[in-house]
Amino acid sequence: MPGRMMPPERVKPLLVWAAGRLRDAGCETPDLDARLLLQGAAGLSREELILEPDRHLAGEQITAFEAMIARREAREPVSRIRGEREFHGRSFRVTPDTLDPRPDTETLAETALALLPKAGRFLELGAGTGAVAITLLAERPDAYGIATDVSAAALAVTAENAERHGVADRLVLLTGSWFAPVKGVFDLILSNPPYIPAAEIATLSPDVRCFDPRLALDGGADGLDAYRAIAAGAAAHLTPGGHVVVEIGAGQGLEIAAIFVAAGFRLVDQRQDLGGHIRCLAFQRVEN
Ligand SMILES: C[S@@+](CC[C@H](N)C(=O)[O-])C[C@H]1O[C@@H](n2cnc3c(N)ncnc32)[C@H](O)[C@@H]1O
Repeated sequence: MPGRMMPPERVKPLLVWAAGRLRDAGCETPDLDARLLLQGAAGLSREELILEPDRHLAGEQITAFEAMIARREAREPVSRIRGEREFHGRSFRVTPDTLDPRPDTETLAETALALLPKAGRFLELGAGTGAVAITLLAERPDAYGIATDVSAAALAVTAENAERHGVADRLVLLTGSWFAPVKGVFDLILSNPPYIPAAEIATLSPDVRCFDPRLALDGGADGLDAYRAIAAGAAAHLTPGGHVVVEIGAGQGLEIAAIFVAAGFRLVDQRQDLGGHIRCLAFQRVEN
């Protein structure tokens, strides 16, 4: 079998070469992936790649890029290879201990921003990179938050991202399961909990199943364990009139609404993601 073709040394042909390899490997967005990875490997902006197609790259830049292309061929997501993910206009560090934040979760952040009162206090359960809590604090300089995660390693990444975005002084981090480490009451409780039924994890695409931590995906036998825990504990941690906002998986809306209604809440809002799926539910306690 002939050896693999040497990569070209100039920007445009290098991108064409890399996109071809990614296309052959079955990647859905080979051109975009190749460009994002070359930006990371060569330390160049999108504009520089577009405006300087004949730019000559150094040997070490090409070697680093080739290693990244090999990881992407093995279906590792671009954001994990780069260690960075854009969320709501900001860049967040992503590690093997955190979920790679998804664009759909911006729906959760936007719903929470709409419900958070002036100078409001919020609690995010299961913070991961902290993309959601940090977005709320960055958008609302009057807000304070607590973010929890059962994974101390994930919370270390939350802390790093909070420093990066200048909100660490308004964010308290607590390690533990759901409400266990939490004291006090909040105007808003929000969560994007694990919601994949355990048996379905093996059927997910390799980009997800092999790289997102199982702790961030596994919602128990029917995918709803976390919602039961959150619905059971929320009332004791809400101010009067406070809200609970949760992200949900496609098609889980009715069952999750029923869990919260049985725990004494009423549904006050539901929002769709860009794909038209109901992605986020908001509840308020029914006052007696
Ligand atoms: C789907 S990820 C969401 C991460 C982040 N909020 C986001 O939207 O990108 C769920 C998070 O919940 C955390 N988690 C799982 N079980 C938990 C538990 N029992 N208590 C608190 N957090 C938990 C996971 O470690 C993970 O960071």
